[in-house]
Formats: sequence, C-alpha cells, structure tokens
Amino acid sequence: MSDTREHWDAIFTQKSDDEMSWFQAVPTTSLELLAQWSTPDDPLIDIGAGNGRLVDHLIERGWRDVTLLDVSHEALDAVRRRLSPSVTAVTYETCDIREWSPSRRYRAWHDRAVFHFLVSASDQRHYVRTATDSLERGAILIIATFSPSGPTHCSGLPVARHDADEIAELFAPHFEVVASREEDHTTPSKSVQSFAWNVLRRR
Ligand SMILES: C[S@@+](CC[C@H](N)C(=O)[O-])C[C@H]1O[C@@H](n2cnc3c(N)ncnc32)[C@H](O)[C@@H]1O
Repeated sequence: MSDTREHWDAIFTQKSDDEMSWFQAVPTTSLELLAQWSTPDDPLIDIGAGNGRLVDHLIERGWRDVTLLDVSHEALDAVRRRLSPSVTAVTYETCDIREWSPSRRYRAWHDRAVFHFLVSASDQRHYVRTATDSLERGAILIIATFSPSGPTHCSGLPVARHDADEIAELFAPHFEVVASREEDHTTPSKSVQSFAWNVLRRR
C-alpha cells in the first residue's frame, strides 16, 4: 500500500468528522459555484472527495452522474455506507490522482483542498494534464486551495498555497479562469483558514 493511501486511511479510520479541519456539514461555496456554473445533468468528478457531504447535497439536488475519486479506501467506504443503497448515481474510484487516467469524459470537475497537497511542479503539471484529458471542451473546473495567507501544512503534510494568478498560469493554455474568490473557512475547532477558490473553463 502506498504511503499516501496509508496516511489518509489512518486519518479516516481514527478521526471523527469534527476532528477533520476541512469538515463542512453543508459545503456552501461548492454548491453555490456548481449551481452557477454547471447543471445537474453534467457528469461530475469530485477529486479527493474524502467522506465529504457534497455528494449527499448533489444527489438531493438531482445530480445523476457523480464520480468520487479518493486515495483513501476508508473515506470512500464511509460514503458508501452512508448513502442509501438505492443511490445509483455515484461511482467510486479509489486511486491516487497522480496515477489515475480517465476512461471517460466529464463536464464538471470539483477539487476542494486536494491539489494543494501536490507540492512538486511535476505532480502539479501531471494533475493539469489529467484534468485536461478528463474534461470536454467548455467543461467547468472548480478548485479550492489554501491561499497565500492560508496554512503551510494540513494533516501533517506540507501544502503549496496558490493565488488566482498562479492557478491561471498553471492551468493555461487549456483553461481560462472565469471566476475567483477568497474565503475564510472556520474549522470545527474554530480556527480560520484562508482558501482561494477558482472556477476555470476548459478551452
Ligand atoms: C483535506 S481533505 C478534503 C476532502 C474533501 N475534498 C472535502 O472538502 O471535504 C483531502 C482529501 O484528499 C484525499 N487525497 C489526498 N491526496 C490525494 C491524492 N494524491 N489522490 C487522491 N486523493 C487524495 C484525501 O484522502 C482526503 O480525502
């Protein structure tokens, strides 16, 4: 088993929702941006979905084709156990995004707090290539990373912090940034983390 998978499986086995700094019962910004920039008919992939509640809210809003990708089997298993067996709209991909190749195309890509764990330029470039290959022209990519004033580490791992200009540069020439915002996320233990949200369109 890879170190990355072992690391995240241990977190999802040992911690409750409230002990995970990124936890949100209602992922408001994700839902707002998805409502603004895509529709429930769009096949969506959530990168590093964890055991997050976004999928529950998407199903409730009528999304019919949602893929959850995560390196942690434990995280995706928790989602599988939580969702009703009658939910057929969800596909699970247990995989490291650095090693994954798409077997189909999507119209929407969502990543909250995953890309920033890719600290090397080669991993970042590989991620951009994967996103490019996974998305149809005109598709939307929503990405939230720690901003330059956000934390330097998360879950014991170093992170790379980005502003909108850096994201635009990293994802050019295949994507253009169509919206950006900064947001302070209050963790369950009440500390504040600055996130940079960017919405990009696949050219
Ligand atoms: C900070 S959590 C965010 C979870 C979720 N996106 C949310 O907002 O609730 C980071 C997630 O990314 C996953 N992850 C970390 N590195 C990954 C990688 N290289 N490939 C796929 N998933 C990864 C972890 O297992 C974890 O679920």
